[in-house]
Amino acid sequence: MITVNNLSKIYKMGKVEVPALSDVSFDIEKGMMVGLMGKSGSGKTTLLRQLSLIDRPNSGSIIIDAKDVIDLPEGKRSILRLNTLGYVFQEYALIPELTAIENVYLPAMMSGVKSKKYKKLAKNLLETVGLGNEINHLPKELSGGQQQRVAIARAMINNPKVIFADEPTANLDSISAKTVMDTLKNLNKKTGVTIIFVSHDPDDKKYATQLIFLKDGRITEEYV
Ligand SMILES: Nc1ncnc2c1ncn2[C@@H]1O[C@H](COP(=O)(O)OP(=O)(O)OP(=O)(O)O)[C@@H](O)[C@H]1O
Ligand SMILES: [Mg+2]
Repeated sequence: MITVNNLSKIYKMGKVEVPALSDVSFDIEKGMMVGLMGKSGSGKTTLLRQLSLIDRPNSGSIIIDAKDVIDLPEGKRSILRLNTLGYVFQEYALIPELTAIENVYLPAMMSGVKSKKYKKLAKNLLETVGLGNEINHLPKELSGGQQQRVAIARAMINNPKVIFADEPTANLDSISAKTVMDTLKNLNKKTGVTIIFVSHDPDDKKYATQLIFLKDGRITEEYV
């Protein structure tokens, strides 16, 4: 499903070069729930940004679903981002003026799905993440954990092959964090969507079927 070969990313800050990823290679099979672990500054976000087509590496290759995604033109990459990939961010990134259900169906609306269909899909997804009673709430009328579950439903709306989640529970208390991780795990089991999440909480290892540990931009350990 995903093959990464010899990936390197160097950030340039004036004349200083910061090597954030060095020679990273691994494979991810379809349906895995992958935990990218490591201390602050180890390169987790940088790796997720390259894999999720938000950024481009300096060298190496990334194959997603048999497609080499690095040299694709930006237009093709944005189509992949909208239709094949789903995103969950630490800070939820919901649109404050839109209700839960409107936030969830927005990416489907942008993909040209018919309104009757995307409204039904969005409602079903909100029920799946345990928010069937909150579909008309604005983000500010929801708890942090509920907002993150809206974001997870939104990430699923275009039936993605992969969901990327960068520290999805970092802003949450431990009970809400568990609900969010359980929600991701259930979706992974139920739909077979591949999930790649970042965490620096060793407790989150239990959610993963594959673990990749980073240190100073290199893989130090990997378990499948
Ligand atoms: N935009 C940038 N410009 C320059 N250096 C950067 C940039 N983003 C990250 N870095 C550097 O790259 C390295 C890896 O950063 P990254 O954000 O990937 O770490 P992380 O593992 O996600 O850390 P955290 O757990 O704190 O989120 C760090 O040394 C960081 O300072
Ligand atoms: Mg990070």
